Amino acid sequence: METAFFNGNFIPKNEVKISPDDRGFLFADGIYEVIRWYTGFFYDMEGHMSRLKRSLKEMRISWPESDSFPSVAAGLIERNDLKDKPSLVYLQVTRGTAVRTHAFPVQPVPATVYASARSLSINPGMADRGVRVSVTEDPRWNRCDIKSVSLLPNILSLQQAVESGFSECVFVRNGFITECSHSNIFLAGGNVLYTHPESGYILSGITRKNVIRLAREAGIDVRETPFPANRLNDITEAFITGTSFEITPVTAFDDFIVNRGRPGPLTELLRTKFREELDRMIA
Ligand code: PDD
Repeated sequence: METAFFNGNFIPKNEVKISPDDRGFLFADGIYEVIRWYTGFFYDMEGHMSRLKRSLKEMRISWPESDSFPSVAAGLIERNDLKDKPSLVYLQVTRGTAVRTHAFPVQPVPATVYASARSLSINPGMADRGVRVSVTEDPRWNRCDIKSVSLLPNILSLQQAVESGFSECVFVRNGFITECSHSNIFLAGGNVLYTHPESGYILSGITRKNVIRLAREAGIDVRETPFPANRLNDITEAFITGTSFEITPVTAFDDFIVNRGRPGPLTELLRTKFREELDRMIA
């Protein structure tokens, strides 16, 4: 029996009852987080906590107990017997339940808080061989920095990519590469690594931040500069980052093959550094 966390209590997941008047259900008026459990610790809980609090603040959603998230996440791992299994914890906080009107409820209502955990390993084939991505116009709003559950443009774009045989789609806005439907992207031109700067056009990925740190520690020149989509043909390698991807090489953008379809040396170096750091944390 799966255990979930719902509005302050751990209960069987199939007993969670969310009102049809919940603003998450009616308007996707909520935020979320996804954090990885590496059989002994959560990956950068501090980073996830500060992004969670930022999303709540930007959305003006009040969850006074947000500092309880680390213990909620640990409670879910324990209660679902996941201590020894690589897992993901999902948290969603909505503006709560109220009669449907677009404006916020006049009388504030408590946020709806739901969290769950499931075992999920990184797909080793995907991470080793790399993935092909499609390139598409970014159809999203300009507050992609908020980890909002309003993901329809991401979902529709990804589905189109998947139906065309790609694993992810990369977005282009005003002629520049921003990020992907559920990951960030890095592009290498020789020894320089480019990734879009933090702005309303990307989600500030926890993995992205740590990869930038690891790359700089390794002496790589990382530039947080928008990369022009019309220069994709010049890149020597690319990879995507995310809680569900770690660092996954990109071997093709539509029909443009990168580095003869193989992961490049900077990507491999960073994957090794990422793994080594995890191994040190596990030890
Ligand atoms: N997605 N950009 C977008 C649009 C994302 O949805 C995600 C993560 C990322 C990478 O962020 P991080 O490194 O913090 O996981 C970038 C999560 C995992 C999801 O929606 O399931």
